[in-house]
Amino acid sequence: MKCTKRIQLLSWCVPAVLALTLAGCGNSSKGVSSSAPSSSSHPVSSSSNSISSSSSSKDFVGGKGMSGTVNFPLGIAVPDGTGKSGVNILSNSARQQVVVSDFSQITIENKMKMSYLDIGFSDADGLVKWASDNGLTVHGHALVWHPDYQLPSWAKNPGSDFKQKLQDHVKKVTQHYAQTYPGTVVSWDVVNEALYDKSDNAGGDGDGYRKSVFFNQYGGPGYIADAFRAAREGDPNAILYYNDFNTEENQAKTDKLVELIGNLLDQGVPIDGVGFQMHVLPDWAPIDSIRQALQKIVDLDPDLFIKITELDVRVNNPYDGDSSNDYTDRDDCAVSCEGLLVQKARYKQIVETYLEVVPAHRRGGITVWGIADQDSWFYDGNGSANLPDWPLLFNNSLEPKPAYDGFKEALLGAK
Ligand code: XIL
Repeated sequence: MKCTKRIQLLSWCVPAVLALTLAGCGNSSKGVSSSAPSSSSHPVSSSSNSISSSSSSKDFVGGKGMSGTVNFPLGIAVPDGTGKSGVNILSNSARQQVVVSDFSQITIENKMKMSYLDIGFSDADGLVKWASDNGLTVHGHALVWHPDYQLPSWAKNPGSDFKQKLQDHVKKVTQHYAQTYPGTVVSWDVVNEALYDKSDNAGGDGDGYRKSVFFNQYGGPGYIADAFRAAREGDPNAILYYNDFNTEENQAKTDKLVELIGNLLDQGVPIDGVGFQMHVLPDWAPIDSIRQALQKIVDLDPDLFIKITELDVRVNNPYDGDSSNDYTDRDDCAVSCEGLLVQKARYKQIVETYLEVVPAHRRGGITVWGIADQDSWFYDGNGSANLPDWPLLFNNSLEPKPAYDGFKEALLGAK
């Protein structure tokens, strides 16, 4: 894999001190005519969710924990046996309880990726069925994504029928879920990480686009529009997202994102929303950058949904060139460390910023990337980010962490 070294080296980053001031909305806007479908046709509201909750929290309305306080999907990525802890939620009732108590949507961590579905639907179907049986919706992830480990053989050894195979995959998958579990997979990351990233230079820079196998086979970014069209054909009702990382930094990649989405809309491509993965550090990206990046998509088109798709907040910054502030003892933050309080404030700040910037009717939701810390792809470090971490809302005993309280406090303020 994989998505290693996602954040550039930030020698100037000051850890542990967070600027909590929420000042200065960015105003950069680009008027682009809308050709996106009307948002009213999309089942984005989670209000029809009928999970009965065992949560004892009295401060939440609706009787199903945190998700009952908001009218957008509150999601969590569920482990499917392929992730860091090796756990599969289907055989872990304690994790199931956590999910149904507080969340209204799941993302399947890996088993909906291209190579898995190319082999067969049964593993992913089991998870989608579990979601459906428990009144949860599913955010499908991801129809088109470049890393080698999850490419099907037709993409690893591309032939002259590559374009057709790509579109067939997208259409087949979206149609399968629309027909087999109607109303459950309500949205899709149609294309994931198509933009070039300076910290993840695997394929090189094609004028702001990642030179993935898709880009190379098409001779440019034309596969993106094709994928969205095929997804709309496969499931006319699903909300279709473009999803990427480091776009919250509000740097060149964010501007390229704005350009890409604007172009797609101008061409009448059926795209409904933009996903910000939001894998962040305690002190990066700065909250003002996050605010301005979200604002750019808010300003781009009045019908676009905006979703935080993979939120996690690390306690360590492995890129700041300062090891004195790192938490390295595996037991340390598992129980308690100062970093957990910084993490709490950071979760709260990010959710508050999302709620402030994104108008209520355009909130595609917020999804946290995993359940227990040991499920996280950052738990043992990740590639060059070789430090342990505890990035999620629940500890390894599945107890809510301070981060959970910060997340919840921000949601309770939702308007
Ligand atoms: C990660 C999973 O969490 C890991 O289990 C897997 O080994 C690699 O992929 N961006 C994405 C997600 O869109 O699919 C990635 O998930 C994390 C980065």
